Amino acid sequence: MRRKLVAGNWKMHGRQAANEALIGGLRAGERDFGDVDVWVAPPAVYVGQIAGLVEDGAIGVLGQNAAAVDDGAFTGEVSAAMLADMGCCAVLVGHSERRSLFGESDAVVAEKFGRIQAAGLVPVLCVGETLAEREAGQTEGVVLRQLLAVVERFGVLSLRSAVVAYEPVWAIGTGLTAEPDQAQQVHEVIRAEVSSRDAVVASDLRILYGGSVKAANASALFAMPDIDGALVGGASLKVDEFVAIIRSAGEGSVR
Ligand code: 13P
Repeated sequence: MRRKLVAGNWKMHGRQAANEALIGGLRAGERDFGDVDVWVAPPAVYVGQIAGLVEDGAIGVLGQNAAAVDDGAFTGEVSAAMLADMGCCAVLVGHSERRSLFGESDAVVAEKFGRIQAAGLVPVLCVGETLAEREAGQTEGVVLRQLLAVVERFGVLSLRSAVVAYEPVWAIGTGLTAEPDQAQQVHEVIRAEVSSRDAVVASDLRILYGGSVKAANASALFAMPDIDGALVGGASLKVDEFVAIIRSAGEGSVR
């Protein structure tokens, strides 16, 4: 049985006072989260602040990005080991904004995946197709190419301590959510591909959906058999919305 996971990606949003208020609001509802893991991903400069605010609670801290190299002369970079040192439990890798705006190739994403695991953290590997790719019938090919860039390099067993997030690029920040069965189809393809290599790894692998998830659509998504939680952007900055999404995940898990 896979435990549901709801992760909030704050992207480049936040200030100390606002962060404190948001975490305070989440922690007020923490006891009702149920059987759900909850992670938040603040910008790197605020990781220490958030780690301090959640350390005696149930919320995990997720990094948004880590360098593809170990500590050294790389001005402006933040290593996975530093994120571990500051209290992160996991790090996003391959988010579409990193791929498209910062030119991260599949090879760079795989390199980062390896550094994150080497630092003892859980990579959350993001995959997803653009609208043009979907319309050209390439969804499956793109998603599997992004997944296999990691699997072929580190082996399928590397997914034992990783999470995959399917985020169709056309659904990110647009208000357009994939229909639950549309998302389920892709999640199923991902799990089947992993299963063809190792059935146990596949059945334990948590695959999150991301892209305009909000309180109003979360339950229908979580009802799908291969959707194990959500990676939430905009709605994770609103306490009530984010808590409602977490509650939906909790309800799904006891059904
Ligand atoms: P939105 O929920 O704002 O669409 O963002 C999704 C996302 O990119 C999470 O990583």
